[in-house]
Amino acid sequence: MKSYLITGGAGFIGSNFVKYILEKYPEIRILILDDLTYAGNLGTISENLNDPRLKFVKANITDNTAVRTIFEKDRIDYLINFAAESHVDRSIENPQLFLETNILGTQNLLETARKFWTAGKDENGRPVYHEGVKFLQVSTDEVYGSLGETGYFTENTPLSPRSPYSASKAAADFIVLAYAETYGMPVNITRCSNNYGPYHFPEKLIPLIIKNILEGEKLPVYGDGSNVRDWLFVEDHCKAIDMVIAGGKLGQVYNVGGHNEMKNIDIVKLTISTVRRLIEENSEYRSALKTDIENINENLITFVKDRPGHDLRYAIDPTKITDELGWIPETRFADGIVKTIRWYLENQDWVKDVTSGDYQKYYEQMYGNR
Ligand code: NAD
Ligand code: DAU
Repeated sequence: MKSYLITGGAGFIGSNFVKYILEKYPEIRILILDDLTYAGNLGTISENLNDPRLKFVKANITDNTAVRTIFEKDRIDYLINFAAESHVDRSIENPQLFLETNILGTQNLLETARKFWTAGKDENGRPVYHEGVKFLQVSTDEVYGSLGETGYFTENTPLSPRSPYSASKAAADFIVLAYAETYGMPVNITRCSNNYGPYHFPEKLIPLIIKNILEGEKLPVYGDGSNVRDWLFVEDHCKAIDMVIAGGKLGQVYNVGGHNEMKNIDIVKLTISTVRRLIEENSEYRSALKTDIENINENLITFVKDRPGHDLRYAIDPTKITDELGWIPETRFADGIVKTIRWYLENQDWVKDVTSGDYQKYYEQMYGNR
């Protein structure tokens, strides 16, 4: 039976991954380590917490004692590191926290795993690791920087991060690769494009827009809305990570993306029309609406001051993961966005829970003077 240590398992992608593998593998052990920052919520995994296959530990990935204790108590086969400070705008306000969590936290996990996974040395004095163990770093396409109108990021594109967030993720990637080269650690890195889907914290574009539409609030679009992101349904990302754990060649990086580039303004317009249509078609969704349905229209869009250093365009070339591991994205954007909006319409309690408290202060600070 395989045993997973999943850091950041109470966040957006981590929680979706936990649900995905619990469903897929009946015989499995999962230990979630999460510090429950503003972005991590037990409500996100509440339906899973009673599952006998799962244990939860509240701890910081930079805490050496906490991470060591986990390895002392439990055999870990796979460590999947989702834990990170993940929001670019917040990294512009408070870069240091991003460096602490994303760089030092990753190194702490690597170092602890290295110690506990080392089985001995080979005849050349190189470390030998326990059979089948693997460290998977969940990284991002943002480490490659920004594209112009054309071209794609491949795994060979030089890293050129431009925000404190992406610089911290790039640094973490280099450290992971350094552990592979220097100590022969069994690692993989996945670099995925923008995810969307259930449990996405409403500070990120799509869930923020959905929340504001339902409240009849303005929809803040940075700059002129022409920046392009390459959107992938979160379950397709989870599937990719699962495939890389099972079949990824050790030491390799895999890009993950579904060739679904869209301008921000088009995402916002599509979200407005889809929310309105779903509510008009389903009377049970009316309770999610805190404004008159007639207010759901493009007049809600407001162009605000641009994000400093705003990357123009991301676009992933996923040829390697498709050719080597057979991964393809299954959810078309047209279907994924409807699934996502339905989920938000049906889970307003979750939105209310995660946006109570500090969220209001954050929103005022972030958008008050734009
Ligand atoms: P998220 O912000 O929703 O979740 C992050 C989780 O990590 C939260 O549960 C939080 O409590 C936890 N966490 C944060 N700091 C911690 C610390 N110091 N110790 C322990 N736990 C901590 O992020 P997400 O969108 O789910 O992203 C997960 C990972 O995927 C990140 O590494 C991110 O860089 C990467 N990624 C995200 C996207 C995307 O579109 N969201 C795309 C590509 C890669
Ligand atoms: O590409 C992968 C990355 O995608 C991940 O590594 C990050 O963790 C994740 O947060 C995401 O980063 P982005 O900066 O692309 O996501 P965000 O949702 O913040 O913004 C998407 C686009 O929308 C971006 O061009 C900025 C714009 N935007 C965002 C917000 C929050 C707006 O126009 N208005 C907004 O209010």
